[in-house]
Amino acid sequence: MFQVTVLALVVAMSWPSACADDDWAAYKTKYNKAYTGDEDNRRRAIWQDTMTQVREHNALYAQGKTSFFMAENALSDVSLDEISDAQDNYVELEDNVETPVSEKLVSQAKNIPESVDWREENIVTEVKNQGPFGSCWAFAVVAAVESLHLKSTGEKVLLSESNLVDCATSEGCNATSRLKAFQYIIDNKGIATQASYPYIPQKGPCNFSSSMVGAQIKSYVQLPSGDETALKEAVATIGPVTVGFDANHSSYKSYGGDVYDEPDCSRSRLTHAVLVVGYGSQNGKDYWILKNSYGSWGLNDTGYMLMARNKENMCGIATRAIYPTLCGGIEEQEGLTPGALNLGCPETQIGAVGSVRGCGEIEKIGLVYICIIMFNLWCEGNMI
Ligand SMILES: *[C@@H]1O[C@H](CO)[C@@H](O)[C@H](O)[C@H]1NC(C)=O
Ligand SMILES: *[C@@H]1O[C@H](CO)[C@@H](O)[C@H](O)[C@H]1NC(C)=O
Ligand SMILES: *[C@@H]1O[C@H](CO)[C@@H](O)[C@H](O)[C@H]1NC(C)=O
Ligand SMILES: *[C@@H]1O[C@H](CO)[C@@H](O)[C@H](O)[C@H]1NC(C)=O
Repeated sequence: MFQVTVLALVVAMSWPSACADDDWAAYKTKYNKAYTGDEDNRRRAIWQDTMTQVREHNALYAQGKTSFFMAENALSDVSLDEISDAQDNYVELEDNVETPVSEKLVSQAKNIPESVDWREENIVTEVKNQGPFGSCWAFAVVAAVESLHLKSTGEKVLLSESNLVDCATSEGCNATSRLKAFQYIIDNKGIATQASYPYIPQKGPCNFSSSMVGAQIKSYVQLPSGDETALKEAVATIGPVTVGFDANHSSYKSYGGDVYDEPDCSRSRLTHAVLVVGYGSQNGKDYWILKNSYGSWGLNDTGYMLMARNKENMCGIATRAIYPTLCGGIEEQEGLTPGALNLGCPETQIGAVGSVRGCGEIEKIGLVYICIIMFNLWCEGNMI
């Protein structure tokens, strides 16, 4: 009897750490991580702390004391400081860039649907992964332009974050804002395709050439700061909108699902940028649907996140909301983008509504003439 008790005791005592060994090995396998020596111990300690927090938080969630749950993910063995450092301590500074505020959007707030999810309309491109680099702003801007281009033309063209990282500013990534990226795309008369200018998670020399262009924008519009009603209307009538928010919290790192709500969040210190692709409500909780750039992460590992909506601008989600407009795009036809910065469209309108699809991509002058002749013939044919 004594031996059995001792054995049971030994088993009971060794169980947790043997179990944790297995879990740690399984974690590393699942997320494709390999560490040696001290690094393995350090990573394991961070992972254990994270998992303790996840368990404690999820116990509160089960009691209905918090509105979101946490989960293990690829960031579970990475500390918040490391994420912050790897992302160049990205903070959107309150710079003084003049941007138009869309008055009309606010005043038009009627017949706006109670929920919108642009993923269901197939105008949201796949979730990408920025890796350990402060390029979230480039991913947010690219995701917005990809979506608007798709919505406007029906063509899915993946675009280049590295084009923005390398070329949109010389100040380094931390001081760059989405505004500068949008302005670059306007000034540059377009942004490269992903295929012609692939992503690497570091800043390199600018290697853009005009033959790489996959999409153009006409302007960008910034919504009234902190106005969640304006954001809702813009998302419903225009399409996905880029936003910044305060992501510098361990609750965010381990976000696993349901509606995120962090009482310690700042409404002015925006440390991350993403794309709002919709909004809605579930179980009495209003939310924004955010497309992140961490690959598989967050809401059921889909790469998305639900952020509390109508909770006094939670985490600054509506503090700085910006969307691009396309040349001849649908939003322009509906007269919904007053105060656009750059009213002149670039001469070549690649894929834009109203342009001759395909012609804009042909560079040789002779072929352009053929294109114009063909277009005229086509027009005349149609008029008969
Ligand atoms: C994140 O918060 C920590 C304190 O918790 C702070 O030291 C760090 O500077 C913050 N990082 C950013 C990018 O704001
Ligand atoms: C950006 O980060 C670099 C270090 O990576 C730092 O020297 C510089 O001061 C930062 N700039 C801003 C505006 O935060
Ligand atoms: C720059 O782009 C060209 C294609 O236009 C490519 O052949 C070349 O390797 C690129 N250079 C660098 C440094 O990436
Ligand atoms: C996420 O997973 C939970 C269960 O783990 C499920 O109840 C929920 O419907 C899923 N949500 C989505 C958006 O798939």
